[in-house]
Amino acid sequence: MKIQDAVNIDDLRRLARRHLPRIAFDFVEGGVEDEHCLAINETSFARHRLLPRYLVEDCGRDQSAALFGHSYASPFGIAPTGLAALFRPGADLMLAEAAAAANIPFIMSGASTASIEAAARVAPAHTWYQLYAARDKKISEDLIRRARDAGLSTLVLTVDVPVSSKRERNMRNGFELPLKLKWSKWIEALMHPVWIARYLRHGGMPRLENWAPYAGAGADAKAIADFVATQIPCSATWRDLETFRRLWPRHLVVKGILHPDDAVRAVEIGVDGIMVSNHGGRQLDQAPAPLDMLPAIRAAVANKAVVMLDGGVRRGADILTALCLGARFVFVGRATLYGAVAGGLPGVRKAIGILRKEIDLVMAQIGCPSLQELGPGFLLQAGAPWARTDAPTPRDDVPELGQRRFANKTVQL
Ligand SMILES: Cc1cc2nc3c(=O)[nH]c(=O)nc-3n(C[C@H](O)[C@H](O)[C@H](O)COP(=O)(O)O)c2cc1C
Repeated sequence: MKIQDAVNIDDLRRLARRHLPRIAFDFVEGGVEDEHCLAINETSFARHRLLPRYLVEDCGRDQSAALFGHSYASPFGIAPTGLAALFRPGADLMLAEAAAAANIPFIMSGASTASIEAAARVAPAHTWYQLYAARDKKISEDLIRRARDAGLSTLVLTVDVPVSSKRERNMRNGFELPLKLKWSKWIEALMHPVWIARYLRHGGMPRLENWAPYAGAGADAKAIADFVATQIPCSATWRDLETFRRLWPRHLVVKGILHPDDAVRAVEIGVDGIMVSNHGGRQLDQAPAPLDMLPAIRAAVANKAVVMLDGGVRRGADILTALCLGARFVFVGRATLYGAVAGGLPGVRKAIGILRKEIDLVMAQIGCPSLQELGPGFLLQAGAPWARTDAPTPRDDVPELGQRRFANKTVQL
């Protein structure tokens, strides 16, 4: 299959899997421990049913979404994904460029393989920066200063990585930086010659560019990675959030919130946005799906801050479902990264185009002309008078969907 033949995000995932050696693909796709959290992120969407309304006059659909004073062309953006250039050289800036062209936001990772300044050149109005608080507070302050001087509109503080989690695929594969393949992994890796050739042509292990200035003059990729390992993960505190609020004059988002009380406390400190997220199922295997916590967090925050969500989004309908449940905006991590891995810049464009087209089709199908109309009224709700009380719960409808797929992957390990 070629990139242009991909009809959905799962096609891009399969193309990405074909392109990458197992050690790299598993890093992208994998979750923590038994990957239950990874599975429930996706299945949480399948448990909801959209309730269509017909005979609605078709005046076209408008999927533009206002957020932080910007009118974006779609209600989704690109979540931060670290080490992207390891999977496709130049991937960070491809994601930035495609986001700007599609008029959607791109969040540069705190473990990105391009610099804040380079992303700001490529996508000045669309790049946000995601901060991992560093142990050395001066580094965090300097990263914030750089994002501000580069003119970025939004800072995203990720709070759900207090420790490095137990990602068992990576442990089995011996994933480390720079990549060192055991002999047993070489044979499989050699079946991906295009990736190997690109990796070597671009000098092997990519640099964590944003950290280079702090790692000492002349630090190479490995020295920078070693230095970063001394700085993150570092569990930021509420006091740190207050400091970052004081230092950052523009929109501030906290990413990784799952408890309504934490959302309320962050809003009291003055953040502008809450990203309900479990890090794509990569940190706590017992964590709930963001979609399941969304209504409670939206109710707790009300309209005092913007509530956003990421985790498990693979379809345009997933995005609309999240909007119905109270999200203002939705982010995708793996979906666009699969695109970048599978096809570079055209691959990212393809991923964005697929989601955008699916949103349009589903809006037409449910009789929804604009995103403002979305709400619980477009969802089949358990308490509604027309919902059968003897019907199986939506969870019973699809009990094996996630488990089967994820179990298969586990068997491959
Ligand atoms: C390969 C990879 C790298 C990631 N790196 C980061 C990161 O550097 N910072 C961060 O806040 N989240 C990171 N995440 C989490 C994403 O921002 C996002 O929360 C998650 O991917 C959403 O789930 P989805 O992939 O199912 O869309 C990463 C996710 C993946 C898959």
